[in-house]
Amino acid sequence: MNILIVYGTTEGQTGKIAARTATRIRERGHQVELRDSAAPASDLKLGHFDAFIIAASVHQEHHQETVTNFVFAHHDALSNKPSAFISVSLSAALGDQKTQAQKYVDQFVSVTEWQPSMTLLLGGALRFNKYDYFQEQFVKFVVMKSGDPSPERDHEFTDWNALADFADRFLETAG
Ligand SMILES: Cc1cc2nc3c(=O)[nH]c(=O)nc-3n(C[C@H](O)[C@H](O)[C@H](O)COP(=O)(O)O)c2cc1C
Repeated sequence: MNILIVYGTTEGQTGKIAARTATRIRERGHQVELRDSAAPASDLKLGHFDAFIIAASVHQEHHQETVTNFVFAHHDALSNKPSAFISVSLSAALGDQKTQAQKYVDQFVSVTEWQPSMTLLLGGALRFNKYDYFQEQFVKFVVMKSGDPSPERDHEFTDWNALADFADRFLETAG
């Protein structure tokens, strides 16, 4: 199969997740094109692909606008082939906030009217060294609510095994 992965990333973790997904799929003998949703895509012909994976992260309760716009623009192509959505957030990694992580996805689906064949809620990362004052306050007090885990430390919450399993299951259903 020839698979297109389009991702949105603000601090880089979803870019890393999309690259790992591409590697996994190539290891399984398929072709992958990896695109950042922030880069121009006028040369992209979606008819060339057999399946699609869209990955985006959540900031202030929303996925990247560039991803939303891409899905809007290519709604029909995405709906006619197997497709998957990977939603990266802190809520997905915090035990008591899974419902919240699902709400971000529900909202994305209702806005774009794109119903992916499969969805993965995946934990992202904390990168305090990259945040300005406002971002740091938002992450500590709005997203994390409690101070657990210690909110000053950079930490990667991404479950790489869950991602690899998800990629494998997607290939099975799409193939
Ligand atoms: C300013 C800011 C706002 C965020 N808002 C949310 C949020 O509303 N809900 C959530 O679950 N995670 C939130 N996060 C956590 C991000 O989704 C997480 O850090 C993710 O790994 C970012 O992915 P990226 O590096 O690909 O941009 C926020 C992070 C930052 C820096």
